[in-house]
Amino acid sequence: MASKERILCIDIGGSRVKAMVLDKEGKQLEEYRKLDTPQPSTPENVLKTIKALTQHFKIYHKISVGFPGYVKKGVVITAPNLGTAQWTGTNLAASLKTLLGKPCRVVNDADLQGLGIAGGKGLEMIITLGTGFGTALLEDGKLLPHLELAHHPVTKLYTYDMYIGEKALIKYGAKRWNKRMVKVIAILKTVFNYDRLYISGGNAKKLTCKLDDNIALANNQDGIKGGARLWR
Ligand code: BGC
Repeated sequence: MASKERILCIDIGGSRVKAMVLDKEGKQLEEYRKLDTPQPSTPENVLKTIKALTQHFKIYHKISVGFPGYVKKGVVITAPNLGTAQWTGTNLAASLKTLLGKPCRVVNDADLQGLGIAGGKGLEMIITLGTGFGTALLEDGKLLPHLELAHHPVTKLYTYDMYIGEKALIKYGAKRWNKRMVKVIAILKTVFNYDRLYISGGNAKKLTCKLDDNIALANNQDGIKGGARLWR
């Protein structure tokens, strides 16, 4: 039997690096694995963590990566939660190709999640609630240009990252964070007029506020499957 193409998908997060192997239709072929994001999160340390994580995966032909910052043609431009100064200019796609010996594509982490989660009809928005605030927009399943909405001011003092990111959740507690989320979702509804909004990321499970009918919760494991679509 001809061997099927297998894609190694990696999601680099502010607190965990996750990986799984998929077939090209996005079906999971091996166990989902994670390791803590190394501290300091330098490119060298993150590459070492990826190497350790991928020891478990014997066969794959291509690599897809979701990175928590702005990425242009495989090169990192910003990495707000890992340290922009130490990441800017890193050609992550080329480094991983050298490290693991397979072709590699790197996109923003929320964009990768968007590809995994969106249903493919109309204007869909994916937001991820984790260390930072990730956003992706897709029209009829096609990714629209990435916006770093996380760094747009939402109040006089705070950007979205500061207002509803992990640090704010820890500092102010789930009740106050949920109130902030209600405000943020109302803004997104008015600004983007999405047909559907999906909420993913580790903190999505902390939402207790009532959500409109066109809003659904998703999880990181669905999102990482976007890695297969990156090669279609
Ligand atoms: C970054 C985004 C990223 C998000 C989630 C934000 O701080 O600016 O690029 O998608 O965190 O990781």
